Amino acid sequence: MITVEVLEPDELRAAYDLFAATILFGPATDASWPHAAALYTPGRALGVRDDRDPAQLVATATAFGSRLAVPGGADLPMAAVTRVGVRADRTRRGLLTAMVHHQLRDAAERGEVVAALRASQSRIYGRFGYGVATRGRGVRVRRSGAGWRDCAPRGGDVRMVARADVLDVLPAVHERIALFRPGGMTRPDGWWSTMLAGDVAGAEVLLAAVHTGPDGDDGYAVATLADPREDFERRPLAVSDLHAADVQATAALWRFLLDVDLTGAVEAHLRPLDEPLELMLTDRRDCMVTSAGDETWLRILDVPAALAALPCAGEPVRLAVHDGLFPANSGVYVLGDGPARRVDAAPELACDVAALAMAYLGDTAPSALAAAGWWRVHDADALARADRLLGGDVLPWCGTYF
Ligand SMILES: CC(C)(COP(=O)(O)OP(=O)(O)OC[C@H]1O[C@@H](n2cnc3c(N)ncnc32)[C@H](O)[C@@H]1OP(=O)(O)O)[C@@H](O)C(=O)NCCC(=O)NCCS
Repeated sequence: MITVEVLEPDELRAAYDLFAATILFGPATDASWPHAAALYTPGRALGVRDDRDPAQLVATATAFGSRLAVPGGADLPMAAVTRVGVRADRTRRGLLTAMVHHQLRDAAERGEVVAALRASQSRIYGRFGYGVATRGRGVRVRRSGAGWRDCAPRGGDVRMVARADVLDVLPAVHERIALFRPGGMTRPDGWWSTMLAGDVAGAEVLLAAVHTGPDGDDGYAVATLADPREDFERRPLAVSDLHAADVQATAALWRFLLDVDLTGAVEAHLRPLDEPLELMLTDRRDCMVTSAGDETWLRILDVPAALAALPCAGEPVRLAVHDGLFPANSGVYVLGDGPARRVDAAPELACDVAALAMAYLGDTAPSALAAAGWWRVHDADALARADRLLGGDVLPWCGTYF
C-alpha cells in the first residue's frame, strides 16, 4: 500500500533536494533555495515516505497553476506538473503511478481542464494519458555566414535591459504575449523566481533585450555565454528565453542576437518548428537544425470542457474518446456543429485520451495519427473533416520550461 501525502511547508526543501538528486543535480544551497521554493504552491507538493524510515521522503512531485492557450483564442486552467522524482533505490514499485493518480485527481478537483509537463524520458507518461502536444527544434545560426536577405523583416526597436531590471521588465512583456499562440502558457511569479532569477544572479554573462513594435513591447530575448573564456570566434551565445508576438519581433530579436560581436554563433533549444529563420537568411544553411523533440506533454482532464473550448464551426465529426483513468471522459463527442458536445450515436473516429492530446492543439493531424494507428477509423471520410477541425493556422508551441 503506497500512501501519497501532501507535504508541509517545512518539508519542501527536502522534497526539492530529493527531486534534484533523482535528476542527478546537487541539492539547493541556502542562496538558491529561496528562488527554488517560490515555485511550490501550498498544498500541491506531494511525497511518499520510506516505509522503513518514515522521516525520509523517497518520491515527490508537484504542480503549479497556469493557463494554456488553445486554438481559436480561448485559454484553459492548467496544472503545470514539475519536480517529479523517485529515489533510485525505490523505482519501479509503483510510486510514480500512485503520485500521478493522486495529482491528476487533485488537479481535476481544482477545476483544471488540462495538466502538462516536460518529460525527462518519453516512455514514462503515455500510460497516464499524456500525449505530445507541442514540439520544438534546436537551432544554431552561424555569425560568419551570408547574413539576412534584403527583404527579410526588420521589426522595430530593440533595447537592452540591465541585469538588475530583467525581473521587473520581462514578466510583463511575457504576460502580454504568452497566450497569443496555441500551446502558450502563463508563468506565475514563482516561475520567474525559479527559472530566471538563478541566471540573473548567477550567469557570468547575461544579455537581455526587449523589442518594441507598433503596439508597444511585444517580445524579448535572454541569452548567456556558457563559457566566456572560449575562443571569441567560436563561443556560442545561448538563448535561454525568446518570446515574440509576431515575425517582425522575432526577426528583430534574432538580428540583435546575431549582431552581438565576438561570438561564433547563436544557439537555441526547442524553438517553434515553424520559426522562419532559414527563410530570412541569405544562405539557409547558416541556420543548422541541431535537434528536434517533444516539448509539452498534455493530459486532458476534462474532455467535454477541453473540446468545447475549440473553434466550433466546420463539417461535424463524431469522435469516440476513451479514458481509462477518468471514465466520465469516455464517450462519443460531436465536433464542429456548435460547441462540442456528447452524443448518443456511433462514432466515425476513435482515440484514447493521450492520442486526443496529440491532436488537440494542432500539433499532429488526425489523419497522421490514424495512419500510425493512434486513432481508429470507422468512416474514412471523417478524417479530412477532423483534420480541418483540429488543425490550427499555426503550429502550437509553448516556450516555457518547467
Ligand atoms: C521516472 C520515474 C519517476 C519513474 O518512477 P517509478 O516509481 O519507477 O515509476 P512506476 O514504478 O510507477 O512505473 C510505472 C510504470 O512505468 C514504467 N516506467 C517508469 N519509468 C520508466 C522509464 N524511465 N522507462 C521505461 N519505463 C518506465 C515502469 O516500468 C512501470 O511499468 P509497468 O507498470 O509496466 O511495470 C523514476 O524512475 C525517476 O525518478 N527517474 C529519474 C527522475 C526523472 O526522470 N523524473 C521525471 C521527471 S519528468
